[in-house]
Amino acid sequence: MSGDTQSIVFGSPPHGSRALSDVIMRLFNSPAESMGHGEVFTGRPGTEIRCDERYVLKFRRDQSFDRDLAVRWAQQHGDRERRFGVAHPDKHWFILESDDKWIVANLTPRLRPLHLYMADSADPDDCVSALEKVMEAALGLAANHGFGLDEGLSNFGLDSQNRVYYLDDEYYHWTGFLTLIQAFKLWFSAFSWLDESLSARLGGCFRTLLLGHFQDRHLLRTVAEELRNVNLPQKAQSDSFATFLDAVSRGLSPTGIQAPRNTERRCRRFAVLADVHANLPALSAVMNDMSSLDIKDAVVLGDIVGYGPYPAECIDVLSQERFSVIKGNHDHGIANASFDKGFSSYARWVAEWTCGQLDSDARRWLDELPLYVEGEGWLGVHGAPCDRYYFYGYVYQMTYEKNLEVLRNRRIPVCFHGHTHMPGIYFSRRGADGFRALDAETSVHGYDASLICPGSVGQPRNGCTAAQYAIFDPDTLSLVYRRVEYEMERTVAAMRGHGFPGPLIDRLEAGR
Ligand SMILES: [Fe+2]
Repeated sequence: MSGDTQSIVFGSPPHGSRALSDVIMRLFNSPAESMGHGEVFTGRPGTEIRCDERYVLKFRRDQSFDRDLAVRWAQQHGDRERRFGVAHPDKHWFILESDDKWIVANLTPRLRPLHLYMADSADPDDCVSALEKVMEAALGLAANHGFGLDEGLSNFGLDSQNRVYYLDDEYYHWTGFLTLIQAFKLWFSAFSWLDESLSARLGGCFRTLLLGHFQDRHLLRTVAEELRNVNLPQKAQSDSFATFLDAVSRGLSPTGIQAPRNTERRCRRFAVLADVHANLPALSAVMNDMSSLDIKDAVVLGDIVGYGPYPAECIDVLSQERFSVIKGNHDHGIANASFDKGFSSYARWVAEWTCGQLDSDARRWLDELPLYVEGEGWLGVHGAPCDRYYFYGYVYQMTYEKNLEVLRNRRIPVCFHGHTHMPGIYFSRRGADGFRALDAETSVHGYDASLICPGSVGQPRNGCTAAQYAIFDPDTLSLVYRRVEYEMERTVAAMRGHGFPGPLIDRLEAGR
């Protein structure tokens, strides 16, 4: 080690603080702490730690830079941590010169590592409080900055007032709740003191934090769905986890529904409708067509509203039928008045107009629609089965293979979807994948998996302006594809009357 080591401190206290420089120099020349699983310090290979009772110095000697780059690196780390606000406010980033190279280092007040606190603490209430603070740090960072933490408890520390701070130097782009769910699984495996009341408290806290930070009940539903897949080996653990999950999903409408089995009927055929898009004349024509064919049941694959001029009327009709209706992205956006994701400027115009047309009951009905419907051997979603939201992803040339694989893995031979508005079937049969048009009569018998779009009722895009839907027979796995002419002039006149953007009218008239 060089005897001429210098330090430069950024942030507060300001550059050149003598006292802090002395601390850094002393620690830098002190023996390394050992690190490993269950020890006081844990860290990545290459990380070195020095400490005394008050401070922890961390650096990586194997990553050295020229001076300017090291300064930039340290400044970026420091700036980012100040923005994120989950590390201790007195954590400082700086550079050190060692053997003619510059290395980036940081100094943090010494905190009590959370994994040891959990092992030593006698009070489960305090432990749950600490876990709640970990959730708060993780969810706040994800919602506000789009970054995630490594939620391992050794990456957190408590100060003398039991405030929890993130100790790790790494942050990750937020990709969803998977690592947090894994953390929950570990907590419930490791902490036998998580009894019924503490599990319920933890679940309630997670729910409140998620809703508070993300403002999205739908997200909570999808996370609750993922939590439902967590398996814990011991009964006591899985009972506690079930209590936790109950508290997370309290009052939520179900994510998925079972379609009625209709065993009382001789004919079990049902209609598959998608993308009604507030086009009442088209919906009425389809329902008349169904009646003429004696079809009484239907699944409706979302996007009840958006694009069209009759949102309240379509909700009225569909909420009174005993159809299985699920949620589309337009329904979700309009129910929550949030149009950031996947709305073009015209779609956004109509979505905002639609919000003004719907009362709170109608919006609640939309918001509480389930995300998928399933029956014997079939699944219905708005967007794509491999999308955890079910209504954002598209089934098309670039994604169908992945979606077919999901179906094969889940042993679901038939999946209906909407969202593309393009009638057709992607299928997998005896190991070969392919696409076929939806003919007037089609069978998917013998397919390993199939993704079936019945076209759109109220906003066709396949060059045909008629309202489109399909009739499915679950006994023979056969499909009938229907095209029904409707009073488009009525829809167009209503769009004009409400001042809808011209390109939306042109599009409907062209079926594109
Ligand atoms: Fe749609």
